[in-house]
Amino acid sequence: MADNVLEVKHIFKAYQGVQALRDVSLSVGRGEVHCLVGENGSGKSTLIKVIGGVVAPDRGEIVIGGRAHARLQAIEAIREGIQIIYQDLSLYPNLSVSENISLNQMIEKGVRLTTRKKMQALAAKGLEEIGETIDLDERVENLSIARKQIVAITRALTQGAKLIIMDEPTTAITRGEVEHLFSVISGLKARGISIVFVSHKLSEVFEIAESVTVLRDGNKVGDYPAAELDDAKLTFLMTGQSFTSSPYRFDETRRGEPPLLEVRGLTKTGQFTDISFSLWPGEILGIVGLVGSGRTEVALTLFGLNSRDAGTILMDGKPVDVKSPEEAAKLGIAYLPEDRLNQGLFVARAIGDNIVVTILKSLLSRLRLIDRPKRREVENRWIERLKIKTPTAAAAAFGLSGGNQQRVVLAKWLATEPRVFILDGPTVGIDISSKSNIHEIIRNLAEHGMAIVMISDEIPEVLRNCNRILVMRKGRIEREIRNVHEMTEERLFDVVTARRPEEVQ
Ligand SMILES: Nc1ncnc2c1ncn2[C@@H]1O[C@H](COP(=O)(O)OP(=O)(O)O)[C@@H](O)[C@H]1O
Ligand SMILES: [Mg+2]
Repeated sequence: MADNVLEVKHIFKAYQGVQALRDVSLSVGRGEVHCLVGENGSGKSTLIKVIGGVVAPDRGEIVIGGRAHARLQAIEAIREGIQIIYQDLSLYPNLSVSENISLNQMIEKGVRLTTRKKMQALAAKGLEEIGETIDLDERVENLSIARKQIVAITRALTQGAKLIIMDEPTTAITRGEVEHLFSVISGLKARGISIVFVSHKLSEVFEIAESVTVLRDGNKVGDYPAAELDDAKLTFLMTGQSFTSSPYRFDETRRGEPPLLEVRGLTKTGQFTDISFSLWPGEILGIVGLVGSGRTEVALTLFGLNSRDAGTILMDGKPVDVKSPEEAAKLGIAYLPEDRLNQGLFVARAIGDNIVVTILKSLLSRLRLIDRPKRREVENRWIERLKIKTPTAAAAAFGLSGGNQQRVVLAKWLATEPRVFILDGPTVGIDISSKSNIHEIIRNLAEHGMAIVMISDEIPEVLRNCNRILVMRKGRIEREIRNVHEMTEERLFDVVTARRPEEVQ
């Protein structure tokens, strides 16, 4: 089609032993926002590098502005108006904002002499065009990732981009920054610039894309108008599996037994007020609420990482004083933090070390030496039980995918054999297929009698996996939802955001 900025035709690319792309084609229209989606390792980055002329395809061609290239050079791609923003952004950290924006194009045009003033004028004009203000003299290394992205986008624009491709730009930025990035993208689109946006987050795809190309294992699954897809369909296309798990059912007769954990009138000024609930073995209790509702603070208090001003915590009907995570662990309470990479995992250490770190004391032999065979046995048992994908427990944790890292953190706490497990954002930042695996693990633990508290921002996750839900707002429990299976996503969303408070019993 004449109106396509880019056409990729029948691309094949193999690395030693891996067929990264197999007969992949793609077209991008003028002013179109096109999402390229696929799970980790599906070939997205490779395809982008082929389009950018950085990786040579084994077969196939790239058509830009009606001209076909079997072997596109990176410089030609740039001249044709294709700009790629790689995950590392390729900026010069120790140069200023204006230098970063203008240098490449000056080099490209063969400008030998320039002045700071010229560079500043160029950068200022570029930033103005997308309505951004950033100090032109600031060194780029001092900017946040989101601001660095804006610099990279501006650089692309000033180099005459017709098509900007962004490889997973939202991985390392906050929700608010994502919104901002999306408004910048809308502005680019309004000016007729096409965008290819790589992501594996479904919600983002629906928020921004007009059309979607799905890759799976190096193959193209298909092209779809975003309006024709929903969560379940896209999940199926990306993974080839459907995850229509039924809601979690708790055996209600167990409520005849005494609760395992009870919280009465828990209060901390400025954080939460009068929190009371009971938790039975085998339950998966969801806690939902907007950011700032006090959910995490309550969890931290139950785990001994946050103090309380008033209230009682009881385990097996007896009041307990949880002043530290060690005490919590002794009582059988475990906590999976939301920010697991900073709080939950030593990425530079071996997977096995991470798993046994919480139980090292119990592995000490009578001579105060670590019982090595026992330690290996524990490590391997959890690697096997949670299906952590690694050839050996001795491999460093940073080499694992997000889903597998999450499993290591789970294993570390499961090794303490907890009776109450509090999970804060259990699947934040995880591939969909790993996600449903983790859900399965959690449900399985509950079925075997563990009591689970699941704090989550993801309404579908809570609806599918919890038998009871507490809605928190402004530090208080506002509602308890017992008939979870009768709840819909829309209604729960409205309750959480206080759009429809009156309807819930
Ligand atoms: N330089 C490389 N050498 C060998 N294999 C690679 C290289 N780059 C990517 N691969 C492999 O190609 C496949 C696709 O990778 P990639 O394009 O990075 O996927 P994605 O961006 O979708 O996560 C993966 O199996 C990956 O391990
Ligand atoms: Mg990639």
